[in-house]
Amino acid sequence: MAAPEKRRHESGSSKPRRDGAKHRGGSGGARKQGGSCGKGPASHVSREREICELSRPVFFVGFMGAGKTSVSRRLARLCGIASIDMDSYIERRDGRRIRDIFAEDGEGFFRDLETQVLREMTQGEPALISCGGGVVLRPENRAILREGGFVVFLKVGADEAKSRISDPSTRPLLGDAEAARKTNAERLPLYEEVADAVVDTSGKGVTALAYQVRSILRKEGILWQRK
Ligand code: S3P
Repeated sequence: MAAPEKRRHESGSSKPRRDGAKHRGGSGGARKQGGSCGKGPASHVSREREICELSRPVFFVGFMGAGKTSVSRRLARLCGIASIDMDSYIERRDGRRIRDIFAEDGEGFFRDLETQVLREMTQGEPALISCGGGVVLRPENRAILREGGFVVFLKVGADEAKSRISDPSTRPLLGDAEAARKTNAERLPLYEEVADAVVDTSGKGVTALAYQVRSILRKEGILWQRK
């Protein structure tokens, strides 16, 4: 199958992408773990939900509180495919909470784990992957994201993001309102650099966002319903 032209969706418009990333072709739908219907057999998926397949991994990037994990999980439930949260994966593998990894071994140690896990996410069955907000900081990670999958940037303002985070102590790098605004602004060009699709999340709910992302992935030929 010829690879469709890579486009960036931005509020319905699209732009050509600068790299030549190609589809890997449709291997089977991932059912490793994740959203409630990603765990059980197809008969557990309600009739409104579909069983879909992904042609390549889909990475959700964006600031803390953008809704990466919630949207990825909701989409996984809607489509009967796997979702993996990188931070939870790191916590399980390392046996510690993210904040303890930061406190005990520092950010550099966490970023090394993050890069290792990100690489692993590009192998195996394609899934919906929610990344930590700082995944774009390393040029190496940005290259992995661009080459290894389709990247959805969930865009959010720092103030709205902060209001969505119920326990800020779980986010060692969030800081106060001013610090969060500064960090979000500094990272914006990095998120944009890796994004195949940009979705503005302001004022939108998780379900609406999941439907919006689903429609983008379908248009791109990344996601389709299993026959
Ligand atoms: C981080 C975001 C967090 C987590 C860690 C660092 C960041 O993930 O990876 O605390 O640098 O923005 P979420 O974006 O899921 O909160």
